[in-house]
Amino acid sequence: MLRSRRGAVDVGTITAVWPEADTLKILDQRQLPGAVEYLTCRSAAEVVAAIADLAVRGAPAIGVAGLYGLWVEAVRVSARPDARDRVLDAAGRLRHARPTAVNLAAAIDFGLEKLGTATGPEAVSRLRKAADTLAAEERTRTHRQAQWGASLVSKTASLLTHCNTGSLAAVGMGTALGMIRALYAAGRLSQVWVDETRPLLQGARLTAWELAQDGIPARLVTDSMAGSLMAQGLVDAVVVGADRIAANGDTANKIGTYSLAVLAHYHQVPFYVVAPVTTIDPKTPDGHRIPIEERHPDEVRRVAGQLVAPAQFPVYNPAFDVTPAHLISAIVTDAGILRPPYAGAIAALFSED
Ligand code: MRU
Repeated sequence: MLRSRRGAVDVGTITAVWPEADTLKILDQRQLPGAVEYLTCRSAAEVVAAIADLAVRGAPAIGVAGLYGLWVEAVRVSARPDARDRVLDAAGRLRHARPTAVNLAAAIDFGLEKLGTATGPEAVSRLRKAADTLAAEERTRTHRQAQWGASLVSKTASLLTHCNTGSLAAVGMGTALGMIRALYAAGRLSQVWVDETRPLLQGARLTAWELAQDGIPARLVTDSMAGSLMAQGLVDAVVVGADRIAANGDTANKIGTYSLAVLAHYHQVPFYVVAPVTTIDPKTPDGHRIPIEERHPDEVRRVAGQLVAPAQFPVYNPAFDVTPAHLISAIVTDAGILRPPYAGAIAALFSED
């Protein structure tokens, strides 16, 4: 995998993944905010590694990256007699690179559906077209849901957010961060509280970086400060993204989201989930059935590579938690705002397809 470097990223032009010649370019989020570096992937194996190691992360972004990964594999093996078998094998590996965000598996399924029985150059062209379509649709979705989300907040508000849900995670404006951007543009945002988001600090490293690029007023807090902020009346709403929304509205998102929802409920602060319809999984009935990824213990034992606990100390490191539907005030999608009870609203959304 090639690595290249650029000095700065212009405001509003952050793109997490994009095709270039016969390769997939990935903005390496592991290096942010210290360095802006790009990976050049030429095989599905390289894309699987980039997704698993969080060079690209965030539910919609890994879906788009995964499908471009299938396309680069099709390009790579196109001259071989077993090209189709290799592409199908790669689809399986890409699908399972991360288990919680349904966008990844759904993107691969979408690509395979468009691939059909095609082989050779036709297979390459169909997969590229499918990936381009998905990327463009996800981008458009972020704009729609940002507008719906902004409509929920009528007065100038202070919002608290968790993890990174911006252009890095979702292409386009982002999910929860897209709503924040839309509120700022409408002049109804006083400031954003940014949870640092342990263990991997997506809030501190990535959300703070995106907000700074945009010049949006924001302050970084540790995850443990949220309760105190709410008790002081400093949070008007909590807005988060999602990795998978079950058919009943239970929502898996970055670890720590559930604690925020409980705190918001206690303090009577609205708790909004912002996600495209591609993050809703009507086949998973409730949150108990959502697979939760467990990651390497060193992510907890270390901060920025530095050991902060005894080297072999036992660790529990689930990357996500599940917020029960009854703690969610509204789910903002590109198709509109869903209100509880979610089971009916979600069923209606998918019956229209
Ligand atoms: O482990 P990550 O960084 O991929 O987790 C990302 C999140 O939990 C986001 O909140 C989620 O993907 C929604 S962002 C569009």
